[in-house]
Amino acid sequence: MSGNAPCRLAVLVSGSGTNLQAIIDCIESGELTAEIACVISNKADAYALTRASRHGIPAVIHSNAHFSERSSYDAATVEILRSHKVDLVILAGFMRILTDTMVHAFPNAIMNIHPALLPSFPGLHAQQQALDYGVRYSGCTVHFVDCGTDTGPIILQTVVPVEQDDTEETLSARIQKAEHHTFAEAIKLFVDRKILVQGRRVQILP
Ligand code: GAR
Repeated sequence: MSGNAPCRLAVLVSGSGTNLQAIIDCIESGELTAEIACVISNKADAYALTRASRHGIPAVIHSNAHFSERSSYDAATVEILRSHKVDLVILAGFMRILTDTMVHAFPNAIMNIHPALLPSFPGLHAQQQALDYGVRYSGCTVHFVDCGTDTGPIILQTVVPVEQDDTEETLSARIQKAEHHTFAEAIKLFVDRKILVQGRRVQILP
């Protein structure tokens, strides 16, 4: 981030983009002072692309199909991010694990949202994992991305109750509501330079 220029975000998506929409809404309402420099999708049919175009946000379809190596896909992603002068990378339902090529290019500047209270239930189908385990509470976690799967330093978490009759769909919907404000709050902390990372621990400055 340079001087008083707004923080430039890239939002990486693979699907519906409700988290992208929540970020757009916060920026448009003035709650968040940032600019979405680009949306990058690895899926051509992601509905998130429609959301970007409705709001006049540059969007790039960056399919992984043409890349045999994950690291060469990530190297190409880094080029796109650099060309848009991105300060913070937001993984909003981007269903790919990043290699160290990406992680080292943006140290402590890539945020992911995960639909569980990490370190419980990392990886895919976190909501079903929570139901299968029988927990009474789950939620969402915003964390910086490191080279592991859902293992980076935790910025914010929101707890969501699990109801007796929940299905994967009903629990996912309840968690997703929490994701939208938790993600926006974490991005705001970054934009306001209130995040200090010390090893695994993230300190929120007053
Ligand atoms: C979100 O629920 C997010 O937590 C999840 O994908 C969904 C994307 O929804 N991400 C992961 O599971 C990553 N491991 P959206 O496209 O509507 O924002």
